[in-house]
Amino acid sequence: MTHGDPGVTALASPNLALVKYWGKAPGGVNLPATPSLGISLAALETRTVVRRLAATSQSNDRVEIAGEPQRSSRFEDFFENIRSELGAEIRFDAQSRNNFPTAAGLASSASGFAALSLACAELCECPLSPAKLSAIARVGSGSAARSVFGGFVVFPAGSPAAESFAPPDHWPELRVLICRVSESEKAISSRAGMEHTRRTSPFYENWVTDAESVYNRACRAVEQRDLEGLGEAMRESYLRMFATMISAGPPFLYWQPESVALIHLCERLRRNGIAAWETMDAGPQVKILTLSSYVPMVRAAVEQELTTAHVLESEVGLATRLAERGPS
Ligand code: DP6
Repeated sequence: MTHGDPGVTALASPNLALVKYWGKAPGGVNLPATPSLGISLAALETRTVVRRLAATSQSNDRVEIAGEPQRSSRFEDFFENIRSELGAEIRFDAQSRNNFPTAAGLASSASGFAALSLACAELCECPLSPAKLSAIARVGSGSAARSVFGGFVVFPAGSPAAESFAPPDHWPELRVLICRVSESEKAISSRAGMEHTRRTSPFYENWVTDAESVYNRACRAVEQRDLEGLGEAMRESYLRMFATMISAGPPFLYWQPESVALIHLCERLRRNGIAAWETMDAGPQVKILTLSSYVPMVRAAVEQELTTAHVLESEVGLATRLAERGPS
């Protein structure tokens, strides 16, 4: 960059849904049709620097991810909304980097819009409550509403904002093994995928009706730190979500053979008494929920099953926050 303006830097982690948001409710932007429950992933991080764009009558907001200019209308809508929420007139210049592949089913839009929301608000010197920040981030991406918070986070159906459910240290032994089986970007965004299933899957309405009870069970299991109870609810949530995709017209599937191999592997591990509960999102990657004592065994089993898989261990992470002032 040409300017010496350090701007404002915000850090955010993606939020992994244990119970999925999949489908939008009418009446607002990215209001969830289903309640979701997620955790912040400490090992993955988005770092976003926002500066004031030099004022010229022609200037539009700018966003770069890993140095690549972004042209999606998503960003325009987001900036229009945040300007009106903050009562600000300025144009933003945002540069974002992820320490993980963008758009490969690792929730980069969640951490991206959460970090962007906080950095823009701070640049405008408008301190916002977490609920307000969450509602602003939601306009960028529904799951970003959860990424504003650390620890365990809930996002009730139809709600404008997510809420904290339990702090990051609520369940210290909990771990996620993020198994990257493919580096490729996804062909269908979650946004397009959920809208397509809503319009065309005969299972969609049942998915929405059934979601509340799965969510309630998962929340109880988190409260009680019951991994088996959580794992069972989590499995229902992700498999039923995928059922809406493979029943859509035309159907679509994010899974790769390697994803299926890991689903079977987790089942074998559980039969042998090792707690390993998988979940997946809009991409081929598999995330395995386990406890710290099982991590070496689960990791070794994954690496033996898939020699090309890249396994990253994560604890439950923090809320979206400002970076220390200084060079970014
Ligand atoms: C499968 O938040 O990416 O990861 O609101 O349209 O931006 P938009 O969708 P997005 O969808 C996330 C879907 C999911 C499940 C989840 O994170 O809850």
